[in-house]
Amino acid sequence: MKRQSIFHSYPQEYDVMTDAAAREPNHAREVETLVARFQPTRVLDAGCATGLTTRLFAERGIETVGLDCSGPILDVAKRRYADSRLPMSFLLGRFEKLPQALTGKFDLVACLANAIVGVDDAVGLRQALRSFHRVLKPGGALVIQALNFEVVKEGRLHPVKATVTDRLTYLRLLRRQGVRIELIAIRIDTALKPPVFEAFSHEFRGLRASEFEKALTGAGFGGIKRFGNLLLSTPFRRNSRDLVVTATRS
Ligand SMILES: C[S@@+](CC[C@H](N)C(=O)[O-])C[C@H]1O[C@@H](n2cnc3c(N)ncnc32)[C@H](O)[C@@H]1O
Repeated sequence: MKRQSIFHSYPQEYDVMTDAAAREPNHAREVETLVARFQPTRVLDAGCATGLTTRLFAERGIETVGLDCSGPILDVAKRRYADSRLPMSFLLGRFEKLPQALTGKFDLVACLANAIVGVDDAVGLRQALRSFHRVLKPGGALVIQALNFEVVKEGRLHPVKATVTDRLTYLRLLRRQGVRIELIAIRIDTALKPPVFEAFSHEFRGLRASEFEKALTGAGFGGIKRFGNLLLSTPFRRNSRDLVVTATRS
């Protein structure tokens, strides 16, 4: 099994793996919810991948910067929107060390779709949250959407998503080993005879809601709220699929 993120190996297939076209209508409603709730004029889409969320904010007239640490995946976003006249741009960078030029620039930082686990551990999380705090204007908001790792039980594989096209099948699973979570992604190219499959694995700390809250408070955030979805319509429960945390830069 390759110990590297599948996003880096097959960036052009990110949208297949995440079923981007199918999830766009619901994600547009989620973005509408965030716009209505926080009324941002400048947004940082932290962990933008191929730029779906970036575009959805920009289509609503909001100046949006999509930031990602993966050059190959960001290249897909840049190529896709090269001719776009929407108010958006893309930037290579890490959450833990955002460029000084971004300081105080945003009224919303959105770190969605489990991108936050890329910080790897509690130290990385603290660095990222301090960084998000610094780039927000006073009173600005942070929204983090992660999977609820509490539902991943030791000793069994936890299915996350399967996507199938006429050529490719992607399976994603989670496995817990203590506080560490392993994300396993399997890619099967069914156009080849016989089909060729590859397995990738990426390991990170499965942060709990209480750990997020402690780290957010430590980084200077207040008004911390937990939700079970990005429509902010259900409270977070132990069996929620998602953990969504919102907080304000005090
Ligand atoms: C699961 S994708 C989420 C993409 C996007 N938010 C969406 O809704 O489709 C996570 C993205 O975050 C990026 N990422 C992970 N850790 C990061 C970090 N520490 N700094 C910057 N980008 C990061 C990855 O390269 C990847 O493109």
